Amino acid sequence: MMCLFAIRAGAALCSLLVLSFSYRGYALSLNYYDKTCPNVESIIATAMKNAVAKDKTVPAALLRMHFHDCFIRGCDGSVLLDSVGSNTAEKDGPPNVSLHAFYAIESAKKQVESSCPGIVSCADILALAARDVVVLSGGPTWDVPKGRLDGRTSQAAETRSLPAPTFNFSQLQQSFSQRGLSTEDLVALSGGHTLGFSHCSSFENRIHNFSSTNDVDPSMHPGLASSLKSTCPINNRPRNAGSNMDPSPTTFDNTYYKLILQGKSLFSSDQALLTSPKTKSLVSKFSSSQDAFYKAFVKSMIKMSSINGGQEIRKDCRVVN
Ligand code: HEM
Ligand SMILES: *[C@@H]1O[C@H](CO)[C@@H](O)[C@H](O)[C@H]1NC(C)=O
Ligand SMILES: *[C@@H]1O[C@H](CO)[C@@H](O)[C@H](O)[C@H]1NC(C)=O
Ligand SMILES: *[C@@H]1O[C@H](CO)[C@@H](O)[C@H](O)[C@H]1NC(C)=O
Repeated sequence: MMCLFAIRAGAALCSLLVLSFSYRGYALSLNYYDKTCPNVESIIATAMKNAVAKDKTVPAALLRMHFHDCFIRGCDGSVLLDSVGSNTAEKDGPPNVSLHAFYAIESAKKQVESSCPGIVSCADILALAARDVVVLSGGPTWDVPKGRLDGRTSQAAETRSLPAPTFNFSQLQQSFSQRGLSTEDLVALSGGHTLGFSHCSSFENRIHNFSSTNDVDPSMHPGLASSLKSTCPINNRPRNAGSNMDPSPTTFDNTYYKLILQGKSLFSSDQALLTSPKTKSLVSKFSSSQDAFYKAFVKSMIKMSSINGGQEIRKDCRVVN
């Protein structure tokens, strides 16, 4: 098999990517739509630019949506399917409070369909959109390998296999390694938490009744803990209450790693990156070099977004053909 990608990397990375690209049987390529839908990337980039101009929360939503898609059945657009009859789809499963902006992908799909009907998968549109929103937030850019197929199955119960914000390091490591992702990928991809917002429920384990001896997680900065406690009281809490992931939630930067070192990250799973020497040193490295973070993020995004597994090119991202 050839190495199809013009990434700025050595042969070792290239062969590693080829291995993961062919996971479940087919390879992705950078020039996949060159003949069949040459304008696909510019159509999607314009659609994303317009969506983000109207709603600053779209980038965080789509980056997270792509992560969820890839972690369940591979990046096959299963997260985009609607519930049908008695089948509850992933998007209506438990961690659904924060998945939103599906309309941005649906509208990009409509525009792509009018230019090249039946050619581009919803899974590819989501992967390209995830790249575009990182760029629109001031982050790095990269070439996205394409050729994903859309899946025909989406089950709410499977969202239970997503990593939880209460996970410790070994649980996180296991969740990532089950998908062919390394601890470096774990640290780099967690940097997605530079964008967006979290509801109280995702970090309340750390601020109320943390353990039999501590009401608050002792690894959390006391100032942050008291401010989160007032935003997220046990009772009478507004349904949408929560906190931005960092003070610059629409800018893709390395602030997230600086906050972890100060005990100011939101989730146990963020703080857990300090509990193994290897991940701790990566957190330090990314906190002091945004460039190192960007390079690692790009490499890991290409790996994560190449976990594939679909069967068809859906006509409508919400329903199977
Ligand atoms: C390492 C394991 C991960 C865990 C445990 C985790 C957990 C979470 C949780 C609990 C939320 C908040 C949901 C809410 O309460 O609204 C969240 C938000 C988010 N996550 Fe993660 N996540 C992980 C990895 C990732 C990865 C790999 C990415 C992308 C590369 C990502 C991107 C995001 C983004 C952008 C948001 C903000 C969403 C928004 O504002 O709409 N996360 N994550
Ligand atoms: C989210 O999931 C919960 C629990 O599975 C469910 O009761 C609720 O209806 C879902 N909400 C949405 C907006 O789909
Ligand atoms: C991580 O959590 C799992 C499950 O709760 C537990 O069995 C394990 O001992 C924990 N590991 C560490 C290092 O705390
Ligand atoms: C805190 O946890 C203890 C033991 O798990 C439980 O008995 C108690 O009701 C909890 N308190 C609150 C306020 O949830």
